[in-house]
Amino acid sequence: MRRTSTLVGVLLVLTLISCGPWRVWSSSLCKQTNLEVRPHSVSITEFGAVGDGVTLNTKAFQNAIFYLNSFADKGGAKLFVPAGRWLTGSFDLISHLTLWLDKDAVILGSTNPDDWPVVDPLPSYGRGRELPGGRHKSLIYGQDLTDVVITGNNGTIDGQGSIWWSLFRNKTLDYTRPHLVELMNSAGVLISNLTFLDSPFWNIHPVYCSQVTVKKVKILAPLDSPNTDGIDPDSSDNVCIEDCYISTGDDLIAIKSGWDEYGIAFGRPSTNIIINRLTGRTATSAGIAIGSEMSGGVSEVHAQDIRFFDSYSAIRIKTSPGRGGYVRNVFVSNMTLENVDIAIRFTGTYGDHPDDKFDPNALPLIEKITIKDVIGQNIKRAGLLEGIEGDNFVNICLSNIILNVSSSYSWNCSNVQGYSDFVSPEACKPLKERIFPEHCSDCYNLSNHLQSSNNQTRGAWLLSW
Ligand SMILES: *[C@@H]1O[C@H](CO)[C@@H](O)[C@H](O)[C@H]1NC(C)=O
Ligand SMILES: *[C@@H]1O[C@H](CO)[C@@H](O)[C@H](O)[C@H]1NC(C)=O
Ligand SMILES: *[C@@H]1O[C@H](CO)[C@@H](O)[C@H](O)[C@H]1NC(C)=O
Ligand SMILES: *[C@@H]1O[C@H](CO)[C@@H](O)[C@H](O)[C@H]1NC(C)=O
Ligand SMILES: *[C@@H]1O[C@H](CO)[C@@H](O)[C@H](O)[C@H]1NC(C)=O
Ligand SMILES: *[C@@H]1O[C@H](CO)[C@@H](O)[C@H](O)[C@H]1NC(C)=O
Ligand SMILES: *[C@@H]1O[C@H](CO)[C@@H](O)[C@H](O)[C@H]1NC(C)=O
Ligand SMILES: *[C@@H]1O[C@H](CO)[C@@H](O)[C@H](O)[C@H]1NC(C)=O
Repeated sequence: MRRTSTLVGVLLVLTLISCGPWRVWSSSLCKQTNLEVRPHSVSITEFGAVGDGVTLNTKAFQNAIFYLNSFADKGGAKLFVPAGRWLTGSFDLISHLTLWLDKDAVILGSTNPDDWPVVDPLPSYGRGRELPGGRHKSLIYGQDLTDVVITGNNGTIDGQGSIWWSLFRNKTLDYTRPHLVELMNSAGVLISNLTFLDSPFWNIHPVYCSQVTVKKVKILAPLDSPNTDGIDPDSSDNVCIEDCYISTGDDLIAIKSGWDEYGIAFGRPSTNIIINRLTGRTATSAGIAIGSEMSGGVSEVHAQDIRFFDSYSAIRIKTSPGRGGYVRNVFVSNMTLENVDIAIRFTGTYGDHPDDKFDPNALPLIEKITIKDVIGQNIKRAGLLEGIEGDNFVNICLSNIILNVSSSYSWNCSNVQGYSDFVSPEACKPLKERIFPEHCSDCYNLSNHLQSSNNQTRGAWLLSW
């Protein structure tokens, strides 16, 4: 008995060595965001703003930013928001701007929807996400910008979203609800050291962006608030999300890339999405979701050092016939779960189409999803993995996953194929074949990717900061 287990142990070590260890990103990769000191600075009070929580300051924000535009080619400028409650409607940022919220500064979203003008739908969605036609503009908005920083000393951006949630619930809205921050077609964005509170809809939405860092932000909304996603990188690349705490009413991070025929035609993927040290909870949704809008494709998603508690699901992929696109090369490692209903969930028939013009034969390609080093307490179900009939989700690899599952059914899989090692409770039949040593190359791993991309994409990204 003793001899057998020693032998098994030796064999195990040998097979692991023959495959080589799976390395993860060094956590320093997103730290290189050197904040340039802006040579010019003004306070919002110099433009007549009043921080009493009642006076509407939209004009003051607009005038201040218009003034600061003249410094854009002189190293940029900083708009300082001191302690106070600064009520405002939507306003637009400019390039080379730092919006700085001091300690106890709160930017408050107006509770009058008319202060959030209606703008065009995104081309990759073809319509508003909730309703046909346009959508309300985010509280803080930017388009075609470079080098934008939203930061400070733990200030707060409060959307006062409860009015919007009621309007949504009683179906009296004419247009899709607004985000707190949306940056569109922009590069070099840093959002850090802030709290986001009670967004009307999604909180932070970079769309068609590159080089976005979201670091040290806290995002809070009631657990039952509708669609208050935390951070939604959408058709964006080189996005780094680090050291965040998110507790909201929907997915904490949802990686997207457009919706059905509109997303396919637009064709802009989300790629190189790095998530480090994320903690959070969502009672109804997932900690990290991909989709359901993923028609432009999603690849190279690397998440590590994650902790989710009191949540419905931890890792979720949502897609549907009609979406087209792909989700590939996803790597999640070192995740701790406590009190989670379904640790890993794939849904291949999510439905939810923008209109009836989608092509039901546009099938998404889901492949090379690796999840490893997971420990979970009080988990209801380990995995509910549902692919698409005739369109299996393939090369799903699970390694070193130990879950304390309370229900009698732990894994339930259909239309998926893959491999597993050291998974407890034992994975479902389609994933039972071992990874090591013979299926190493079928599983997505970072060692390979690191070597090929270290000096290119990533280097360029870091240098540009
Ligand atoms: C900002 O908030 C973080 C997290 O809550 C805290 O660790 C840090 O000390 C705060 N900084 C200041 C200057 O208050
Ligand atoms: C919908 O909700 C808003 C905000 O609470 C309220 O002002 C309005 O009267 C409600 N309308 C209906 C039809 O219930
Ligand atoms: C955030 O605040 C901390 C101090 O709490 C500071 O050291 C750090 O440079 C700030 N980071 C960014 C990216 O603004
Ligand atoms: C795993 O993640 C946790 C945070 O959830 C972190 O404290 C720990 O150091 C990480 N472990 C490893 C081996 O990186
Ligand atoms: C699993 O959870 C149950 C109930 O919380 C607990 O009694 C048991 O000790 C746990 N098992 C392990 C291996 O942690
Ligand atoms: C597994 O999923 C299928 C389809 O959703 C369902 O019919 C079946 O009851 C499930 N089995 C368990 C054990 O949950
Ligand atoms: C990583 O994947 C490559 C192929 O993509 C394979 O050759 C290599 O053996 C894999 N490494 C590990 C550690 O599994
Ligand atoms: C990375 O850089 C090294 C040394 O400059 C070079 O030999 C190698 O070919 C580069 N790798 C790629 C994938 O470009």
